[in-house]
Amino acid sequence: MTLGPADTREPAEILSTGDRATWSVTAPSILTPRRRPPDRVAFGMVRTLFDRPRWLEPCHLYDERGSLLFEEICELPEYYTTRTEAAILEREAGTLMSLAPVECIVELGAGFSKKTVHLLKALSRARGRGTFAAVDVSATALMASRSMAEELFPELAFTGLEARFEDAITSITPDIPKLVVFLGSTIGNFTPTDMLHFFTHLCDHMGPEDYLLLGVDRIKEPEIIERAYNDSRGVTAAFILNAFTNVTRATGAGFRPEKITYRSSYSRARERVEMYGIATETHRVEFPRHSASFVWEKGEGILVETSRKFDPDDLQVLLRSFGLESLGHWTDPKRWFSLLLFRRTAPSGGMEPK
Ligand code: AVJ
Repeated sequence: MTLGPADTREPAEILSTGDRATWSVTAPSILTPRRRPPDRVAFGMVRTLFDRPRWLEPCHLYDERGSLLFEEICELPEYYTTRTEAAILEREAGTLMSLAPVECIVELGAGFSKKTVHLLKALSRARGRGTFAAVDVSATALMASRSMAEELFPELAFTGLEARFEDAITSITPDIPKLVVFLGSTIGNFTPTDMLHFFTHLCDHMGPEDYLLLGVDRIKEPEIIERAYNDSRGVTAAFILNAFTNVTRATGAGFRPEKITYRSSYSRARERVEMYGIATETHRVEFPRHSASFVWEKGEGILVETSRKFDPDDLQVLLRSFGLESLGHWTDPKRWFSLLLFRRTAPSGGMEPK
């Protein structure tokens, strides 16, 4: 029996040597940060619920049911983003992998990695070997991604990192040249401040020969966007409201699904969709484990998710200030979605990182 490249690489190779001990294997080829106080997740949820206006971090949407509901959203006729991006990826994967001549792809917010297949195919065709590391907070998603990778790309070494972006970015080794891919306009979940923090952290940890592929949903007629986030079958509503079920399970909170309804709107000022859970009547929500409660007033919204839309030219200007040089921009015939490729260089203005 001959050992292929996949057999010679340890899953932990994607992590910096100094950080490997801080991750543990939770399933075959899947690692998670060790030092996660059991309360950290629950506290994260409660903290934002006692902020004003009340809100939730979008990562709480992705428990098992949430991950499956999101896959269903991707198939909805109203939700154009997934199929639009997939078509661009399919068309350009070969070009992208020749512009980014690396053997390693790291996908942030990988989900089930269905669209990534196009890039992995091009990677495999061009190099015959390589590494695919999928980062996601959802174990369900990582297991789906692993099955896909093992079945279609046995010549690639797969690692799943069940982690928040910042934890994965901190620990991934800068020593392997890589293409970081961040698809599906997941970046749209960030507020402008989140975005500055995210790119600062990412660029601090990217090696000098690393590349970034960003998929972003573009600013377009609000009616098209509004329909995409308020589908006729109510899948989006179920997906957003599932966050309250998830919080209830994780924190013991007394959310009552029958008293919460979904509402979304598109803000032109912020160029983003805002997705809320709204109380249908005034009631108290108890958090017995935290000895706390709040009165949720009828009509008051808890902001569960935002989905920002982008002008790709503006985004290129912004990212240039982080030392990300644009290598290309691809879009679809309707210009609804954009793929942007960048290479890590020194930040403009001579601000070389130490
Ligand atoms: C996974 C964040 C890209 O904002 O379009 C879809 C999530 N929420 N429908 C998006 C989502 C409701 C999605 N992202």
